Amino acid sequence: MSLTQQTDDRTLVLADGNAIPRLGLGVWQIPDGPSCVDAVRWALELGYRHIDTAQAYGNEESVGRGLRESGVPRDEVFITTKFFPRRKDPVAQIERSLQRLGVERVDLYIIHWPQDGPTWAWPGMERARELGHTRSIGVSNFSRSDLEEVIAVATSRPVVDQVQFSPFEYRRALLDVAKRLDIAIEAYSPLGTGRHLGNATVANIAAEVARTPAQVLLRWGLQRGTVVIPKSTHRERIAENAAVFDFTLTVEQMARLDALDRSGGTKRALERPWW
Ligand SMILES: NC(=O)c1ccc[n+]([C@@H]2O[C@H](COP(=O)([O-])OP(=O)(O)OC[C@H]3O[C@@H](n4cnc5c(N)ncnc54)[C@H](OP(=O)(O)O)[C@@H]3O)[C@@H](O)[C@H]2O)c1
Repeated sequence: MSLTQQTDDRTLVLADGNAIPRLGLGVWQIPDGPSCVDAVRWALELGYRHIDTAQAYGNEESVGRGLRESGVPRDEVFITTKFFPRRKDPVAQIERSLQRLGVERVDLYIIHWPQDGPTWAWPGMERARELGHTRSIGVSNFSRSDLEEVIAVATSRPVVDQVQFSPFEYRRALLDVAKRLDIAIEAYSPLGTGRHLGNATVANIAAEVARTPAQVLLRWGLQRGTVVIPKSTHRERIAENAAVFDFTLTVEQMARLDALDRSGGTKRALERPWW
């Protein structure tokens, strides 16, 4: 039996036994400072229990401040940060992240992208977990071949691959292989960094279910089995993006969204890597 199973609509149990909330707030491109503190605090006030940041985003301090200002207990919130692979040592870098965040450990630490190959940083990621700096470890922007390479050298396998994933980037072959390897897919840019919100098919389906385009895209990601991490700096949108657990898209609506795929159902994580 696969360990990566849904316990309910809102939570996924990862292959290492840790539970991840299936909705998180992404904070890429939110500057360190009040806008990031507010977004994190609002999300937690509105019921989010998962924040996705990264060393490269430069806003870990504000994430920590938002967490403390929200008053939500630390152990109720799932925090992800990402190793910036232009640095050398995942352990040294997570120790800095923990200081900036003001927490004793994070819940998930992932390699941000496979720069200079998928395997060299993995022993350091495993060490970070052994030291108790993170509860789970994973990867991001890893294609099928990258996953296979890292698993071949791993003592403990990645439990997550965070990739660009939406109806327009429906990486069906990567999703299938991840399922087989017991690796959860986290859907980043689930709204296409805003670009997919104006699509006519998405708008039509939104009208059919009396929801918004953002809610339709996020619901598609949930029904495809992924964790979704939309970003917004607006309180009302953060609330809107969380209201995705009380409706269902039909098989026919899902199929119309699937047909928007421009990735060719690829096993690749990204069409144009930036590293
Ligand atoms: N691992 C990686 O390499 C990687 C790469 C990219 C992203 N990510 C993660 O994934 C997260 C989400 O991806 P993303 O930041 O690219 O973008 P996204 O969540 O796909 O879309 C965010 C954009 O949509 C707008 N928006 C959000 N909710 C909306 C709503 N309900 N109605 C209308 N507009 C809405 C936001 O504007 P406002 O903010 O103005 O509301 C923003 O411009 C990131 O923040 C990051 O945590 C990871």
